[in-house]
Amino acid sequence: MDIVYKKPTLLDIKNMQKLVKPEVDKGIILYRSDDEMAMNIRSYFVAELNKEIVGFCALQIYSIKLGEIRSLIVKDGLRGKNIGKNLITCIEKEGKELGVEELFSLTYERGFFEKLGYQEIDKDKLPEQKIWADCIKCKLFPICKEIAFIKAI
Ligand SMILES: CC(C)(COP(=O)(O)OP(=O)(O)OC[C@H]1O[C@@H](n2cnc3c(N)ncnc32)[C@H](O)[C@@H]1OP(=O)(O)O)[C@@H](O)C(=O)NCCC(=O)NCCS
Repeated sequence: MDIVYKKPTLLDIKNMQKLVKPEVDKGIILYRSDDEMAMNIRSYFVAELNKEIVGFCALQIYSIKLGEIRSLIVKDGLRGKNIGKNLITCIEKEGKELGVEELFSLTYERGFFEKLGYQEIDKDKLPEQKIWADCIKCKLFPICKEIAFIKAI
């Protein structure tokens, strides 16, 4: 399978929204408006198969050492083919180049993150900006069963 990993442009946002909608509807991934995605377009990587976006992920930076993996999605039907893992590799590489020392993620995907070397941490250790900027917008807040994972990169 010839998957290309690259930075998206503003023109990709419509298709990224289509891809993520089922997971947003289920409450697995937080809804982000077109404008919010546009403002953060530089934070994303997309995976493309025959010019179709089949996955994406974003790197959000919180401090001079801490970043977050967010909005990770792979198209249903193409999961289990290392696309998610390769997207995380792109994020880790970019984070490292920028000087990020640790990456965290809030997720239901325990097995996936453990496989990639992430360790569970107490959610209280997350930066407050995360809770107030993102979690508060979530329909599951404050009764959230997501687990926090972190890794030194
Ligand atoms: C989570 C998700 C992105 C994983 O992407 P994926 O492309 O299917 O995962 P990969 O194929 O890259 O898996 C990488 C490794 O993790 C393992 N893995 C993946 N999901 C796993 C799970 N739930 N439990 C245990 N291991 C898992 C794979 O077997 C693979 O191992 P290998 O390297 O030994 O082959 C995908 O399932 C998804 O889009 N889920 C819905 C959205 C979501 O939950 N996003 C996470 C929000 S943070």
